[in-house]
Amino acid sequence: MGIVEAVGSGVASLSEGDRICLPFNVACGFCKNCERDKTGFCLTVNPGFAGGAYGYVSMGPYTGGQTEYLRVPFADFNGLKLPPGDEHETDFAMLADIFPTGYHATEMAEVSPGESVAVYGGGPVGLVAAYSAILRGAAKVFVVDRVPSRLRLAEDIGAVGVNFSEVDPIEAITEQTGGEGTDKGIDAVGYQATVSEGEEQPAIVLNNLFRTVRPTGKIGVVGLYVPSEPGAPNEDAAEGRLLFEIGKFFEKGLRMGTGQANVKSYNRQLRDMIISGRAKPSFVVSKELPLDEAPDAYERFDNREEGYSKVVLHPHAA
Ligand SMILES: NC(=O)c1ccc[n+]([C@@H]2O[C@H](COP(=O)([O-])OP(=O)(O)OC[C@H]3O[C@@H](n4cnc5c(N)ncnc54)[C@H](O)[C@@H]3O)[C@@H](O)[C@H]2O)c1
Repeated sequence: MGIVEAVGSGVASLSEGDRICLPFNVACGFCKNCERDKTGFCLTVNPGFAGGAYGYVSMGPYTGGQTEYLRVPFADFNGLKLPPGDEHETDFAMLADIFPTGYHATEMAEVSPGESVAVYGGGPVGLVAAYSAILRGAAKVFVVDRVPSRLRLAEDIGAVGVNFSEVDPIEAITEQTGGEGTDKGIDAVGYQATVSEGEEQPAIVLNNLFRTVRPTGKIGVVGLYVPSEPGAPNEDAAEGRLLFEIGKFFEKGLRMGTGQANVKSYNRQLRDMIISGRAKPSFVVSKELPLDEAPDAYERFDNREEGYSKVVLHPHAA
């Protein structure tokens, strides 16, 4: 997110001085997938692959967005204009990635008013997914994690925190939904999921969801799974093959949506919810730091240190 410093000759709708927010995806706006709102899977910007993003493995030649200056391809399509000034600065920053990503999870799970939703993962993405479910009218939202400060934040927004190092989350949630399980489920953890003792078990959250969500329910998976991960705990997982309980999944008639968030499908509406005071996703922001402190902040974030759950970096610190 930032201020437009200069525009190229092909740009029609943006001018120097505009405050804009950019999706983490880079998209053209005119390919088959973009035309259908699937901008996370653009066919133009990264030839031979469906999807481009700033600073992301195999997603094109676009350097990362956490910089003083950023070159924006297809800027008319990608730039989301924000009101001038600096109001809602940290809320708008969440529009680049996690707010639309959390919302995307609820969209794939088709969360509707009055439903119950189990969100696995209380990181920034899981927390805004829970928040999005509440915005969509869910009656009961559970957030499963084992980090107490993250569970506290979940409770602050009206969700029920479930600490998986203290209780079996499937049992706890089944019991609190009258033995039925939740209508919907969200994976906001991905392949780096762990058991309560901390050891990585890449398929555990998917399989927990298949047992937490009631028959015919729907699941939105925004937690990351990759086809190649040299650091994975076993050979199969290193090639993206996980022991996924298809038997249980089929038996219950579950449906599941996956993938990178199509940020452009939601960021305009979510921006307007921020402007009108209906949404305040900055509740996840735990710290704001100058860009030159990023390496240290990343290390602390990686170690899940208290206070580093979501850090906003200021390229030009005041
Ligand atoms: N699909 C997309 O477009 C998109 C966009 C942004 C982020 N992501 C992905 O979303 C995921 C979450 O992102 P984040 O920034 O919140 O990450 P994070 O690492 O801060 O949060 C993950 C949380 O999951 C918890 N966890 C680990 N094992 C668990 C288990 N078995 N049950 C329940 N919780 C468990 C961890 O304690 C942690 O708090 C990551 O995989 C990230 O790459 C996807």
